[in-house]
Amino acid sequence: KESREMSVCGLWLLVLALELLGGSDSAVSSDCKSYDERSRNAGKGSPSVATEDRKVVCSNMELHQVLPPESFPNRTVTLILSNNKIQELLNGSFIGLSTLERLDIKNNIITRIEPGAFLGLTALKRLDLSNNRIGCLNVDIFKGLTNLVKLNLSGNMFSSLSQGIFDSLVSLKTLEFQSPYLLCDCNLQWLVRWITEKGVGVKDTRCAYPRLLQGTLITSLMLEKLTCDAPLELPSFQMTPSQHQIVFQGDSLPFQCMASFVDEDMQVLWYQDGKMVEPDATQGIYIEKSMVQNCSLIASALTISNIQPGFTGDWECRVRTSRGNNTRTVHIVVLESSAKYCAPERVSNNKGEYR
Ligand SMILES: *[C@@H]1O[C@H](CO)[C@@H](O)[C@H](O)[C@H]1NC(C)=O
Ligand SMILES: *[C@@H]1O[C@H](CO)[C@@H](O)[C@H](O)[C@H]1NC(C)=O
Ligand SMILES: *[C@@H]1O[C@H](CO)[C@@H](O)[C@H](O)[C@H]1NC(C)=O
Ligand SMILES: *[C@@H]1O[C@H](CO)[C@@H](O)[C@H](O)[C@H]1NC(C)=O
Ligand SMILES: *[C@@H]1O[C@H](CO)[C@@H](O)[C@H](O)[C@H]1NC(C)=O
Repeated sequence: KESREMSVCGLWLLVLALELLGGSDSAVSSDCKSYDERSRNAGKGSPSVATEDRKVVCSNMELHQVLPPESFPNRTVTLILSNNKIQELLNGSFIGLSTLERLDIKNNIITRIEPGAFLGLTALKRLDLSNNRIGCLNVDIFKGLTNLVKLNLSGNMFSSLSQGIFDSLVSLKTLEFQSPYLLCDCNLQWLVRWITEKGVGVKDTRCAYPRLLQGTLITSLMLEKLTCDAPLELPSFQMTPSQHQIVFQGDSLPFQCMASFVDEDMQVLWYQDGKMVEPDATQGIYIEKSMVQNCSLIASALTISNIQPGFTGDWECRVRTSRGNNTRTVHIVVLESSAKYCAPERVSNNKGEYR
């Protein structure tokens, strides 16, 4: 405590003033708390505040982005940004935090990480990105994290990991990437091989798909079980509407279809009664394709803007890949505008009111 009062730097005087008011905690930026990190680096004979290791906690602050690196004390060794609403990590987000050893960004809503996001974190040993919405990890994401020992990617949206993604993590010892979407197919063979070769410990990470391998630990997988053979099993596949519909002539009917993106050659196609539906502006048929959650999901939307009786039938969303197809179908009945109505009949009983 006495050592802190010897600080001369203006910025630290503010921190000190707040420390004196608020006990051992101090404010860094808005509501972040800064603590002494039980010094491993600072020896007994070095009383300067500026060389003291700091732990900065910015949890539960509704942060939508990472605070600028300048807002953290010079010797920040631990930075906790968990339980916020951070959506993306931009290039250079942590530049200058060259003493940082532990970065925890779990329980946010990160969907996108720009290449270069972790640049400058040369001392980083532990990185926790668990429980976010990361669907896609660029091969260059982890560049420069040569001292990283522990990486947690559990609870994200990706169903696979691209070859080479961990190449720059030369010090990695522990890895975790449990996910309800994890697809154990031929695209993960490289990873199983790499884990064995590098002697990296993989914790609590089990296949979610295909069903045949569900629950199997990644570390106990035989390479030959990792195939891309038929049948195609998709970790996620939804069509809306999902229930049969009755619609009126002239109405607009939007369909949505979304599936896990598991193969480069994957296509989402639309069929009516087994016949492919193509976009046709004169008939008011529009089809829009997109990639969502950056490469974890592929989506397509079909809109029929002016539905006609001829559109009655089975409407199908088909996911087509070289290893097989998957489909979802709903039955649509179009009522002609000339259709006669009967007066509604009401029934009330102890189960409710029916019309
Ligand atoms: C942080 O370090 C830089 C460069 O070493 C120095 O110029 C600056 O004054 C330091 N800031 C604080 C708050 O100690
Ligand atoms: C990230 O920023 C650095 C410098 O700020 C720049 O040199 C680099 O090209 C950027 N990387 C990407 C992928 O934008
Ligand atoms: C990784 O993250 C998950 C989800 O937050 C957590 O349950 C698990 O304990 C973490 N693993 C390690 C090794 O910290
Ligand atoms: C996906 O990535 C692109 C470019 O990298 C970006 O512009 C877009 O906002 C991202 N979308 C989502 C949903 O993360
Ligand atoms: C998948 O669908 C395509 C047409 O979209 C069809 O030609 C092919 O035979 C189907 N494959 C399987 C395995 O059903």
